[in-house]
Amino acid sequence: MKTTISQVGKYTDQEVVIGGWLANKRSSGKIAFLQLRDGTGFIQGVVVKAEVGEEVFSQAKNLTQESSLYVTGTVRSDERAPSGFELTVTGIEVIHEAVDYPITPKEHGTEFLMDHRHLWLRSKRQHAVMKIRNELIRSTYEFFNENGFVKVDPPILTGSSAEGTTNLFHTKYFDEDAYLSQSGQLYMEAAAMALGKVFSFGPTFRAEKSKTRRHLIEFWMIEPEMAFMDHEESLQVQEQYVTHMIQSVLKNCQLELKALGRDLSKLENIVAPFPRITYDDAIKFLQENGHEIEWGEDFGAPHETAIAESFEKPVFITNYPAEIKAFYMKPHPERSEVVLCADLIAPEGYGEIIGGSQRIDDMDLLKQRYDEHNLSEDAYKWYLDLRRYGSVPHSGFGLGLERTVAWVCGLEHVRETIPFPRLLNRLYP
Ligand code: 4AD
Ligand code: MG
Repeated sequence: MKTTISQVGKYTDQEVVIGGWLANKRSSGKIAFLQLRDGTGFIQGVVVKAEVGEEVFSQAKNLTQESSLYVTGTVRSDERAPSGFELTVTGIEVIHEAVDYPITPKEHGTEFLMDHRHLWLRSKRQHAVMKIRNELIRSTYEFFNENGFVKVDPPILTGSSAEGTTNLFHTKYFDEDAYLSQSGQLYMEAAAMALGKVFSFGPTFRAEKSKTRRHLIEFWMIEPEMAFMDHEESLQVQEQYVTHMIQSVLKNCQLELKALGRDLSKLENIVAPFPRITYDDAIKFLQENGHEIEWGEDFGAPHETAIAESFEKPVFITNYPAEIKAFYMKPHPERSEVVLCADLIAPEGYGEIIGGSQRIDDMDLLKQRYDEHNLSEDAYKWYLDLRRYGSVPHSGFGLGLERTVAWVCGLEHVRETIPFPRLLNRLYP
C-alpha cells in the first residue's frame, strides 16, 4: 500500500511503500538506520542485514543524503520514536541519487544556511517552523470565518501609502508612480463599509533600512477591519483571535513544537483576556526601572521587552501619543493628545505582533490630518468618501505573521519564519 509518513499509523504491522528522501543515516556491519522524510513527517527505517540479505543491505549502506527513494517496509509501532512508529525496511528503490548534498548533519553558519535556503527548508527544524506557520494561517481563516468575517484581498500595487512615506518601495506603473503596499488597511476600511467585518491576508513591503531580528522587508499581515466596532471591542477580537491561534497550534502541532524544543507551559498560558497598560503607565514603569525615555517618545525593542517581562501573557499598550502614530487614528475623546490605539506585545521578548486602532470617522478631522501629515488630497480622495457617505465608528488591526511564528516557535530571528526571507542584504535565493 502506497502511503505517507503521517498516515503510517493506519497500517501497523502491514507492508507499505513510501516515497521520500534520505535525511540521514547510521549503520554498522549488521544494521542500518535510515532517517526518512517525505514532507508529511519523519520516520526511521531499520534495515537488518540478516533479514533483507546482502544486496539490499549494501544498497542501504551506500545511500547518499537527500537521495530520493521508494522505500518498502512493515510499519511497527514504537513508543521511543517521536512519531510513535518505525519502518522495518524490506526493499529500496532509488529514484534519484543525490551527490554531495551541501548541508551535512554537522553545524553550519547562518549565512551558509541562508545561501542554501532552498535546501535548508528540508531540515527537520525548518519543516517544523513551516508546519506551525501553516497552522497559524489555517486557524486564522477558521477564526474569522467562524466569526462572520469576509476575506477581502486589497491590492499590492498602490498609488498611496497607509503607514507614512519613509519606507515605501517605489516602482513605475506605466507612466505613473506606484508603491508596493505597506498595509492593506485603507482598502479594508472601504471593504468594511461594504461587507461589515472583513479580513485580509497578504504580503506587505517596507523598505526599512533597519537590520534587526524582528524586521523583514517583505512580510505577511492579517488585517481585520470592523464596522460599528469601537477600540475596546476590537481589543476583545484581538485577544480571542490570538488565543485561538495559540491553542490551535498546541492542539495540532505537538510533534513540531517538540522538534523545536519549545517550552509548552509558556504557550498554554495564552488565554484571553490579556492585560492592558496605558502608554502613560508604560513610560512611568520604564522610567522607574532605569530606562531613559520621555513621554512622547516611541518604544524601542528593549523597552518592549522590559514591559513584556512583567506579564506572562501578551500585553496591550494603549493610547499612544498621536504624534508618533499614523494619521488615521481616532483621538481619545477626553485627551486629544493621545489616540485610541494599542500595540500587542508578545511575551518573552518577541516584541510587537499587532498594531491596531479605532479610525477617524469625522471628515473635517481627517482633512486636518491630511494637512498636518502633508498627504496629497488627490491620492487620498477616495478614502475621504468613506467619511462622506454614511460614516460609522470602525476599528481594525494588523497582525504580523512572521513575528507571531517567531514567538510561537521560540525563534531568535524572523529570518527562519518565512520560506524565502527578504532582508536588507538578501534577495537570494
Ligand atoms: O504596526 P503596523 O505598522 O500597523 C499597520 O500597518 C496597520 N495599518 C495595521 C492595521 O491596523 N490594519 O504593522 C502591523 C504589524 C506589526 O505589529 C508587526 O507585527 C508587523 O505588522 N510588522 C512587521 N513584521 C515584520 N517585519 C516588519 N518590517 C514589520 N513591520 C510591521
Ligand atoms: Mg506598529
